[in-house]
Amino acid sequence: MSKQILITGGAGFVGSHLADGLLRAGHKVRILDDLTPQVHPEGKRPEYLSPDVELVVGDVRDGELLRKVLPGVDVVYHFAATVGVGQSMYEISRYMSVNTQGTAELLQAILDLKLAPEKLVVASSMSIYGEGQYRCPQCECAMNPPVRGLQQLKESRWEVHCEPCGSALQPAPTREDKPSEINSMYALSKRDQEELCMIYGRTYGLPVTALRFFNIYGTRQALSNPYTGVAAIFASRMLNGQAPMVFEDGEQMRDFVSVHDIVRANMLALERPESNGRVINIGSGRPISIRDVASILARSLGVDFEPVITHKYRAGDIRHCYADLTLARACLGYEPQVTHEEGFAELATWLQSQEAEDKAETMLQHLTTYGLTA
Ligand code: NAD
Ligand code: UD1
Repeated sequence: MSKQILITGGAGFVGSHLADGLLRAGHKVRILDDLTPQVHPEGKRPEYLSPDVELVVGDVRDGELLRKVLPGVDVVYHFAATVGVGQSMYEISRYMSVNTQGTAELLQAILDLKLAPEKLVVASSMSIYGEGQYRCPQCECAMNPPVRGLQQLKESRWEVHCEPCGSALQPAPTREDKPSEINSMYALSKRDQEELCMIYGRTYGLPVTALRFFNIYGTRQALSNPYTGVAAIFASRMLNGQAPMVFEDGEQMRDFVSVHDIVRANMLALERPESNGRVINIGSGRPISIRDVASILARSLGVDFEPVITHKYRAGDIRHCYADLTLARACLGYEPQVTHEEGFAELATWLQSQEAEDKAETMLQHLTTYGLTA
């Protein structure tokens, strides 16, 4: 049955792909998005946004506007956020305001209007774990090590170690019940978003699902935002004739998941009541090093750049994290379908048709000014 769906932040990378998926499934899509300049430098409706989407330009913190766009909505996807770990360390007020306060305003408006949507899905993030889960090869046990301290990073000791025996730990799949250890203002604001929605759901009987996305890549990722999306950042540099700049030694691992798999997971959350009241990882389940991401992208773009390994740290970064998908499989029937090779090839093809302004040097300057990299 066709539903009226609201996606906050839906003019961005992930939301616009979700809008396409929902429209294809026969739903009506309304988007509330303020077209943040960092993501939408042209300040107008993005060309990639389907003409069938009803776009309301405005801020998710605007309670009056929320009271206009929410009535008649069956399902809310709350994606509006300001996104970037490094930047969140010096734009503290903006991150907490948009992400935390924005979510509070959304829930307040739902409550004040006495609305009872069928479902609320909130975009959460793997950043709230801090370090991922590990195993000690020596002690043969699972470990949740703390995030690395400044001194360790300054001494370029990148790996995390077992407290009792000192061995370098091996990354293991990270489960949802791993205690959260917040390492950036961004992560804190994402945890706020998740918890605000989950508490609201429990209190008022609203079916809520928080999807903890891992590192999403794909077409439409903002090339104008140098603070997030390492795949887009690397590609922008290579298309401008520059080698990718890699923090640490490039061996840090992440879980890169195609935006198409993310869309599938979001649509499954709509269909599967088993996901109500749950927090669920969505990734590819396959770790890949940042150095390998640079190589695969260079190959896909047909260029020959050796990444520059800076041996610098970026404040707020963790070493390794990838998803355990057991719960996603059980509650959503989710299975990632896009391989890294296919996904990065698609990204490369799209990038070749884009004007990519390389802002990595500016980003580095900002981080350096605030002492957030060295
Ligand atoms: P994006 O920056 O492309 O999209 C976010 C959208 O929100 C943008 O269109 C922006 O204009 C809009 N927005 C920002 N502030 C707003 C405000 N005050 N009011 C209304 N709209 C506002 O980011 P994305 O990659 O599409 O991320 C979507 C969601 O998924 C975010 O909540 C993000 O935290 C989360 N997430 C993304 C990733 C990733 O790897 N991309 C990973 C984990 C979680
Ligand atoms: C972070 C969050 C993730 C969040 C996403 C969106 C953590 C652990 N993860 O991902 O949950 O949703 O941001 O903002 O907080 N890198 C380089 N060179 C660059 C840029 C990045 O080497 O030019 C490295 C980073 O140091 C990091 C890795 O690439 O080690 C990934 O960086 P990025 O794409 O920004 O994403 P995360 O920080 O993993």
